[in-house]
Amino acid sequence: MTLDLIRSRAGAEPVRLGLILGSGLGHLADAVDGVAIDYAELKGFAHGNVSGHTPKLIIGDLFGTRVAVFGGRSHYYENGRADAMRVPLETLGKLGADQVILTNAAGSMRPDMPPGSVMLVDDHINFSGLNPLIGEPTDRRFVNMVDAYDPLLREALTKAATTQNISLHHGVYAWYSGPSFETPAEIRTIRTLGADAVGMSTVPEVILARFFGLRAAAISVITNMAAGMSKETLSHEHTKAMAPLGAAKLETVLRGYLANLSQHPAL
Ligand code: HPA
Repeated sequence: MTLDLIRSRAGAEPVRLGLILGSGLGHLADAVDGVAIDYAELKGFAHGNVSGHTPKLIIGDLFGTRVAVFGGRSHYYENGRADAMRVPLETLGKLGADQVILTNAAGSMRPDMPPGSVMLVDDHINFSGLNPLIGEPTDRRFVNMVDAYDPLLREALTKAATTQNISLHHGVYAWYSGPSFETPAEIRTIRTLGADAVGMSTVPEVILARFFGLRAAAISVITNMAAGMSKETLSHEHTKAMAPLGAAKLETVLRGYLANLSQHPAL
């Protein structure tokens, strides 16, 4: 069984939290002192082939906290399945985690939030109309999405950023299915609807996390201004090239958060 395999390699000690790494943000996995397991060995862990993602589960110590880092994530656009991350998130809960921090690369709709910025997600807009719980047969599928991005986690991450002198923006993330980028007209639409950043992940995972009773938080690393808002040509190459700009800030915030976690009984 997947769980037995993970425990036999990484030890049975429970993990405190999960961390899902976005495009071009995989190098945080290198900071974990632990054991890496290829997704190919884990049943139900779709190991798609999005470049810039490392398809490994890494369990070990990160800045003083025992974590499970998901070096790669599956996206809806890879296989048409919005529940592509269902098994990994369920497994995370079974490994003992009660919270998950998601990271992603995103386009910005706010001129005051240029590439290289980091944004804490306060809420989201599911612009895709898809849902990873479609087909779930139990009444548990009616998940409450108020405060889906856990207020206590957001407060602690905000505090970590302030302490580390990192300017952490707050905003609403819109999920667009991808894999094509948005049109400028679509960007004007979601901007009007109240979104601050746009990307192709995170929303289905947060829905699944809440379904499994995990507390969730998400941080976007802004890699570009959204379509039509600047002269740059959008591409995945561009996303990967720009991710390191904000990745160092992300890492600093996470370090501050993880280093204080053990002293925070409420977290
Ligand atoms: N749109 C969607 N996904 C993205 C973007 C974007 O502009 N940038 C990085 N991921």
